[in-house]
Amino acid sequence: MSSNEQPSTSYSVTVVTLFPEFILQAVGHSILGRAISAGLITISVINPRDYSTNKHKTVDDYPFGGGAGMVMKTEPLVAAIEASRDANGCDTPVIYMSPAGSTLTQHIASDLSQLNGMTLVCGHYEGIDERVREHWIDRELSIGDYVLTGGEPAAMVVIDAVCRLIPGVLGNDASPADESFSAGTLEYPHYTRPSDFRGHKVPDILLSGHHAKIEDWRRTQALVRTRSRRPDLWERLQPLSKEDRKRIDTYDRLSESN
Ligand code: ADE
Repeated sequence: MSSNEQPSTSYSVTVVTLFPEFILQAVGHSILGRAISAGLITISVINPRDYSTNKHKTVDDYPFGGGAGMVMKTEPLVAAIEASRDANGCDTPVIYMSPAGSTLTQHIASDLSQLNGMTLVCGHYEGIDERVREHWIDRELSIGDYVLTGGEPAAMVVIDAVCRLIPGVLGNDASPADESFSAGTLEYPHYTRPSDFRGHKVPDILLSGHHAKIEDWRRTQALVRTRSRRPDLWERLQPLSKEDRKRIDTYDRLSESN
């Protein structure tokens, strides 16, 4: 595809949200903003309030059985999800953002980026009616073990993590494979000019121009960082390849003698 040609289909995200401006403002900038302008991704919003049929446009209701807090009203929420389904097609998943979902990982983001799009449903108040969850939601995603005031910030995290993997969005198709998590390790450290900043120097090897040695140093750094910061990822990297084992052994030997 030449640079000024539009892609034939774009990755289509629809967010079902009571706060459409939150999403539309957040996606309008930087890399995502450019990807939208280039037609690589489409971000639409559907507000359940627009589907509320009572005169006050109510979108919440009291929970059966009593208790604190309100629950998102069923009819407008389902109508909004169905409108998204009609627009996006049935082969794209409806995902509810919830701390009770499975935690987003690079692997999940990568799987979602292979589809034609997704619908993200943002909850508010105490959440959604269990019947909506059972019959209109395909999966639930959390962005971590903490509770937000609503699903919108979480939906933004999913949109960002998924859309940057769509071919062309980062400009350089090669880069996502290179970074933290894609290869099961954290990323190696990066440096830019000046080579000496207030007495803090860039490692000599990076100034050497010796590409094979630089690659080797970067791989060693990625391994060492992963081992010290993320024992869970380190565990999954076992058994190490012969080359990586040698890198780590050499690193440990040199650290001991220093
Ligand atoms: N909604 C509220 N908290 C959330 C979380 N941690 N992840 C996803 N959606 C949420």
